[in-house]
Amino acid sequence: MSMSMLKNFNINLEYKGNILHINNVNIINLAKEFSSPLYIYSYDALQINFLKYQNALSNIKHLICFAVKTNYNSRILKEFKELGAGFDTVSMGEIYKAINIGVDPKKIVYAGVGKTDEEIKFAIENNILMFNVESVDELNQINEIAAKLNKVVNIAFRVNPDVDPKTHHYISTGLAKNKFGIDINIIPDIYKYAKNLKNINPNGIHCHIGSQLLDLSPYKEVFKKIINLFNTLKSEGINIDYINIGGGLGICYDNNKDIAPDPKDLIDENFSNFIKNNNITLILEPGRSLIGNAGILLTKVIYQKQNKLKNFIIVDAGMNDLIRPSLYGAYHNILPVKNKNSNQITADIVGPICESGDFLAKDKEIQKPINGDYLVALSAGAYAFSMSSNYNSRMKPAEVLIKDEKAVLIRKRESLKDLLTNEII
Ligand code: LLP
Repeated sequence: MSMSMLKNFNINLEYKGNILHINNVNIINLAKEFSSPLYIYSYDALQINFLKYQNALSNIKHLICFAVKTNYNSRILKEFKELGAGFDTVSMGEIYKAINIGVDPKKIVYAGVGKTDEEIKFAIENNILMFNVESVDELNQINEIAAKLNKVVNIAFRVNPDVDPKTHHYISTGLAKNKFGIDINIIPDIYKYAKNLKNINPNGIHCHIGSQLLDLSPYKEVFKKIINLFNTLKSEGINIDYINIGGGLGICYDNNKDIAPDPKDLIDENFSNFIKNNNITLILEPGRSLIGNAGILLTKVIYQKQNKLKNFIIVDAGMNDLIRPSLYGAYHNILPVKNKNSNQITADIVGPICESGDFLAKDKEIQKPINGDYLVALSAGAYAFSMSSNYNSRMKPAEVLIKDEKAVLIRKRESLKDLLTNEII
């Protein structure tokens, strides 16, 4: 197992004496202490990822809003807050979690196509920085609720630029056929309409075209369209203070295929000058590129079996713990925790859930394990725990954070009793 294989993952994973270590912490010891399945995050990795963005943007006014949906563990949010991040939220629950860890509400932006009255009220009362508005219906609703609360609310329209992000169709959002945002071609009139609403201050433009983008060229197209829109609005007397370009930068999942873009290549000189010359604050909403490769999922081999066609390695993590392979056919690299240099086999690595779609990997070439061995799935920091469920009445796994070469529990493993929470017999 060559370590250069792991360098694109931007996480310190290393075999020492044949045992995989994360930031110098022995993963077998973590399994003994915290059991499995277990989510393990590297503070160093998330910090490096964050600083990359910060350095890339150092000469423009900016706010990096971590997309809470990727990983909503409060401790993770707190670490990002302490690094200077704001938060991109999509529900009252996410706003609540962000405020609960003490972030300045003026660093919270709020997106989503289906905000309810209750959520809008909650966001206004908590004085968040701005709403990313996705329809005229929503705009009217925000105006009405803001009037009742006697507030004037900042909004950015989420524009749909009809740009192809060249990613999985489930996670592309900036095409005309997607439900997100408002057609960029009709948006100037809607800004004019918004400007006349008493309780609305339309001072932002928002755009997020999709996730896991490995090619940055779609952003360049988006920037051109945003600059044009800005100029049109300016000529109509509408002043824009914030431009939010969303998230979307991809990460390496498959070492043989993926070359992750670097945040420093995102903002070209032209766009950077435009931002500076117009005294704009640039907002970004990265999620996956901050935390995706800072996390791994530890799982134990329970049983193995073979049939005419296949080898199966049955592990204790299922699609309820990590649904990305099942849902998107996503690839997550899997490594043995003990490097035994034993024979390679080709096997499906499957979970205990009663569905054929329950797998972590298909036809994976891996060292033949023995029952009781541990494996880790890489790139499991984003959309991993946050998409987990109690399907099959399975208890959600624990989460630990490795910081200063020590492991801290940041979420307890769920108990049998937790499975009854809120149920009424
Ligand atoms: N901003 C908005 C408005 C978004 O909808 C998203 C992600 C982000 C920012 C963060 O994007 P990122 O930097 O993480 O690409 N569950 C899927 C991904 C769904 C993405 C949803 N929106 C997956 O597991 O691949």
